[in-house]
Amino acid sequence: MFTWKKEIDVYRETATLVVGIQEQNVPSPFLPIVDKLKEKKDQLFDFATVTEWLPIDGFQCRAVLFVGLGNKEKYTIKDLQTICSKIYKGLKDDSVILVDTFYPLSQDTAWLVEKMTETIGLVRYTFRGYKTKKTEDLEKTLGTVTFVAPEDVSAAIESGVILAEATNHTRDLVNEPRNKMTPLTLADYARDLALQLGLEFKIFDKKEIEALGMGAFLAVNQGSSIEPRLIHLKYRNRPSDPQVTALIGKGVTYDTGGYSLKPRTSMAGMKTDMAGAAAVLGAIEAIAKKKLPVNVDVVIAATENLISSEAIVPDDVVVSMSGKTIEILNTDAEGRLTLVDAITYAKKNGATRLIDVATLTGGVITALGLDITGGFTNNQDFYKAFEEAAKQSGEDIWQLPVDPFREACRKSDVADYNNSPGREGHASFGAAMLAEFAEDTPWIHLDIAGTSGKRSDYLLGPAGATGVMVRTLVKLFELESQLF
Ligand code: BES
Ligand code: ZN
Ligand code: ZN
Repeated sequence: MFTWKKEIDVYRETATLVVGIQEQNVPSPFLPIVDKLKEKKDQLFDFATVTEWLPIDGFQCRAVLFVGLGNKEKYTIKDLQTICSKIYKGLKDDSVILVDTFYPLSQDTAWLVEKMTETIGLVRYTFRGYKTKKTEDLEKTLGTVTFVAPEDVSAAIESGVILAEATNHTRDLVNEPRNKMTPLTLADYARDLALQLGLEFKIFDKKEIEALGMGAFLAVNQGSSIEPRLIHLKYRNRPSDPQVTALIGKGVTYDTGGYSLKPRTSMAGMKTDMAGAAAVLGAIEAIAKKKLPVNVDVVIAATENLISSEAIVPDDVVVSMSGKTIEILNTDAEGRLTLVDAITYAKKNGATRLIDVATLTGGVITALGLDITGGFTNNQDFYKAFEEAAKQSGEDIWQLPVDPFREACRKSDVADYNNSPGREGHASFGAAMLAEFAEDTPWIHLDIAGTSGKRSDYLLGPAGATGVMVRTLVKLFELESQLF
């Protein structure tokens, strides 16, 4: 629980006090203590060094956590996240954060409180999963975190909580195994979310998807005994504006590769191939809870990519919803097949801008590693705005090219397109295929194959799903709302 107070009596407070310190900048009540502590500990003031002091006399608090802020000229959001992550590890029961002692990082009180709330909310995430034994992590309770700040920061706290919760919901969806997270479960989750948020929605079953003519999407589903679902949620809070942004998430709930079967080492982990879908659901949750004055659609073509005698094979040709035909050269390049139809559907239903989020290619990992999302676009102004949102959220993205890769997607003896032009640059091949279907509609593609999960514990939480791009998507709309 997070709350705020205008002031406290530091001598009488009983909860743990959290105090930022710099060598030349120690809040006066703590000067004598810090003077003593620094004799014993050289790194006391070093950036992100947390020192716990247990009071002897004068103070009634359980402990003071002194947080070294270092002496940087400029601090980034990552610096704040690093500090919060360290603070969180030192918190027990109730605590009180003296926000003004963190002003060297930023003078913006509301921003500090929002980001501290958000980061603590992210760091303390755990996926309970299906372990029958309780772990210590799950038992750790945070108590109440009180921010002491000169102004009312309750809105900042609320915003931080919304962002952390939405991201953590995304992580939950991604961490679920395939047998618990099917297209049907995902659709049920989306429906419940829509009902809870009061959004208009429509979930299409297989027959309805067939009626829409989504031949590329349906082709991927052919090998699965579980029906596909097309999920469409609508958030409308700016009636005067014809602009509607569709957030399209890749929703392959398991990717075996199909007949172009994945080797066993790369198949494990493919339960996360719906991380894009989970991200756009997290984003719309936060956008709606924050009541942002924007119009946003979520579109997800949810299916498994499995094998049976019904499954697609290389050489098959499918007819997409747009009418364009696609020769399948590799059944493991299935994401683009689902997405091109989702893109066409979104456009036909009034979307004026498109952002797709997808664990699309291993190629993006080769290009950018595991910490940077690949960004692609057909509209540089749109991309610039998104890049700014990513920067402010502390989520790294890097732009990769699209246009030089279009031609190769169109090479096929029997169809308009092929779904897998080759391995060299295949993050861009995937993007180029999507661009061909986005056509003139401003579009951004985010390849999160590398960034949607972590193999080990990291700055913002435990190994597993990261919920990447939820906060950046929300930030984009927040920044745009400020311009209205
Ligand atoms: N779901 C995978 C991409 C992926 C790889 C996600 C690693 C997460 C981690 C995607 O459907 C896929 O298999 N892509 C192929 C494309 C190739 C066949 C052109 C790939 O990356 O190898
Ligand atoms: Zn695949
Ligand atoms: Zn896939």
